[in-house]
Formats: sequence, structure tokens, C-alpha cells
Amino acid sequence: MSRKNTRGLALRGARVLITGAGSGIGRQMALEAARRGASEVILWDLSSERAEAVKGEIQTAGGVASVGIVNVADRAGVAEAAKSILPVDVLINNAGIVTGADLLEATDEDIIRTFDVNTLALYWTTRAFLPAMRDRDRGVIVTVASAAGLVGVAKQTDYSASKFAAFGFTESLRNELRARGSNVSTLIFAPYYINTGMFDGVTTKFPRLLPLLDENDVARRVLDAIESGSQQLILPRLARIMPATRLLPVRAFDRVVDFFGINQTMDHFTGRR
Ligand SMILES: NC(=O)c1ccc[n+]([C@@H]2O[C@H](COP(=O)([O-])OP(=O)(O)OC[C@H]3O[C@@H](n4cnc5c(N)ncnc54)[C@H](O)[C@@H]3O)[C@@H](O)[C@H]2O)c1
Repeated sequence: MSRKNTRGLALRGARVLITGAGSGIGRQMALEAARRGASEVILWDLSSERAEAVKGEIQTAGGVASVGIVNVADRAGVAEAAKSILPVDVLINNAGIVTGADLLEATDEDIIRTFDVNTLALYWTTRAFLPAMRDRDRGVIVTVASAAGLVGVAKQTDYSASKFAAFGFTESLRNELRARGSNVSTLIFAPYYINTGMFDGVTTKFPRLLPLLDENDVARRVLDAIESGSQQLILPRLARIMPATRLLPVRAFDRVVDFFGINQTMDHFTGRR
């Protein structure tokens, strides 16, 4: 009944759509996918200036790219934009935002926007591109979640919860696809902080064990995971123990998280200014 995706999907010749491709790891994944021979990299972003700049970089290097100015939180806009693009081989749900405030300091709009972009958009993009993947029995749907989807972090009540939801979304989808014997697969990606600017100001207590990750390196690791057929990528390695620590009583779990300074990481957060 179920088949494990062990084959992976070669990026050479593949059509790859990346949301939030104008900046950070979205941009890096776009450049790297083109380098690996993607037949077209489709760059969705809110900012035409940033997305066009990435398209220019890809074209200069001899690759093929196109730009869509699409707000992934706009359900109708996503469905409409997808029509002229279908099918794609890889959908990377990467666009994301962060508030970075205590629950009572965040505005209602901040909270709604975080769930719109980080969680609900997963439904709109995936529902737009999955039918064609299923028809062709080929494709990978990548969810860029976060290590904050494994541990609820202080000053991230909206962000962490939106990323926990991203895990649930992806796991349920994986099981639906397995139940159908589909060759369409999912990949959940959960990184600790990355040096893109989105989380400017965060600090890490143990830079060797829990380093701020490099956006270039991270992008390569995600594309390696797509090509090798991995279904989950948690970076850095130490963050992989977090699910197991849930077996501890809550006080002990909190002590482990405090030991690693996780709840202080946001103390000096400024975000991109
Ligand atoms: N940077 C980190 O420390 C970190 C850590 C863990 C997870 N992540 C996740 O990685 C992903 C990318 O993060 P990044 O650091 O590269 O971010 P970034 O801010 O550098 O880039 C995000 C891009 O998404 C675009 N975007 C935002 N809202 C959008 C919308 N509604 N529709 C379309 N595009 C939109 C922005 O214009 C921007 O170009 C996010 O999902 C983020 O939550 C980041």
C-alpha cells in the first residue's frame, strides 16, 4: 500500500518553484537549483525588484528563470498564478515571516499575518500544484518549517505555533500520499537560525553546538535532500535530539531547553530593519 520515497528527484531538467525566492535561503536555493541544471526556476515573491535581481543572476550564469509577483497568503491569487505555470516537479514552500514579540506585545494583525504566510499559504500553494504532480506521479513538496516547530520559543508564540502547524501539515500530507501509493513525496526542513537577516539580533549560547547557520550551506543541504529522497532535514545535528526530549517530564524538558539558552535567543532580536 505504501511506498517510501527512496529514489529522490534529480534537479537536472526539473521545473522548480520557490516561494519567497527574492531573499535569504529562497534566493540561495534558486541559484543552486539553476546551477544543478533545473530546466526552469520559478521565483515567487512579494518584491519584484528582489525577484528580478535573482532572475538576472540566474540568467547571467546561463540558467532559465521566471518571476511571479505572488502573495502566497492570497488564496485566489495563488490559484490564478499557478494555472499558467503547471506542472512543476518541485514546490518549495519557503516564504515566511516573523513577529518576534511577546504574546501581548504582538498586534492581532501580526498574529494573523504570521499564520497566513507561514501556515495557511502551505494549503493554497500545495492545493494548486499537487493535482498535476499526482497525475504525473512525480514531484516533491518541500515545507520550510523551523527548529521553532520542534520547541516553543519565548517571543515566538505566533511563529513557533505556525511552524508546529507546518510539521503537522507535512506529516499528514505525507501519510495521505503514502496511503495512495503515490510517488509524490514531501520533505520537511527545520533549521535553527540562519544568517539571512530575518532573525537579526538573535544570539546563540553554544555557537559550536548550535551555530547560526550559513544560508549558502543550508540551501545546498535542502537541495541535496530533495535529490537523495530524504523526507526530513533538521539542522544542525544537535537539534535532532529535540523530539526525543519530549519524553521527559515538562520541568526536565524546560531545563534542557533553558540549558541550551533557547528562550534567551530572542532577547536582542531586531529582525531585518
Ligand atoms: N532565517 C532564519 O533564521 C530561519 C530559521 C528557521 C526557519 N526559517 C524559515 O526559512 C524561510 C526563509 O527565511 P529567510 O531567512 O530566507 O527569510 P527572508 O526574509 O530572507 O526571505 C523571505 C522572502 O519571503 C518573501 N515573502 C514574505 N512574505 C511573502 C508572501 N506573503 N508572499 C510571497 N513572498 C513572501 C519576502 O519578500 C522575502 O523575499 C522562512 O519560512 C523562515 O521562517 C528561517
